[in-house]
Amino acid sequence: MAAATPDAAAAPPRLVVLASGRGSNLQALLDAIADGRLHARIVGVLGDRPKAPALARARDAGIAALALRPRDFASRDAFDAALFAEVAALQPDFIVCAGYMRLLGADVLAPWAGRIVNIHPSLLPAFKGLDTHARAITAGVAEHGASVHFVTADLDGGPVIAQARVAVQPDDDAAKLAARVLVVEYPLLVATLELLCRGRLTLQGNVVRLEGVPLDTPLQLAANRVTA
Ligand code: GRF
Repeated sequence: MAAATPDAAAAPPRLVVLASGRGSNLQALLDAIADGRLHARIVGVLGDRPKAPALARARDAGIAALALRPRDFASRDAFDAALFAEVAALQPDFIVCAGYMRLLGADVLAPWAGRIVNIHPSLLPAFKGLDTHARAITAGVAEHGASVHFVTADLDGGPVIAQARVAVQPDDDAAKLAARVLVVEYPLLVATLELLCRGRLTLQGNVVRLEGVPLDTPLQLAANRVTA
């Protein structure tokens, strides 16, 4: 497989985005690529819901988009295998899960270890899974946010690369908090992918490395960059 290169003049790394819904993180990536903040090229958007707005956003941007329907497959593994055959045909350097709402199995993930990331709306390991904003409010946490992590078969449990934090306000409800988290998701995802696409971030075993140095704690978003 082609590896990402730190050479700015080299062809941009190829990204495949997996998405199930609205696609606002996908749009943030498209915008960042268009204005030169992200050295990458999105070569396809794949998903599990044919009517997902994310697919329409991709097509509007001239990018191939395809959804397979889980009900057309005999099992979860069969669906994953078909989806990842489509992914592999696009020859990505990296895969980005941006609002992709299905678990991925260990078999399809294995060849992509260290090259597939997900954005999740919580400060992992807190609040894995769904309804993170409501659960954060119920738990009474002072801070909430978003995480970008390498994907493993452990739901939202792969090694965390970078996080963005927001303060929970006394009058927050889930919708208000979600809206503020979403605002920081975009620069978080863009900045993390920029490091990955420049070859500066790697995964060895369960250890995330920046320029070869293991991260003890996730990088943090500040001024649209993620730093130690
Ligand atoms: C985001 O909150 C992301 O963190 C989560 O799903 C949501 C997707 O939103 N995984 P969008 O489809 O990118 O607008």
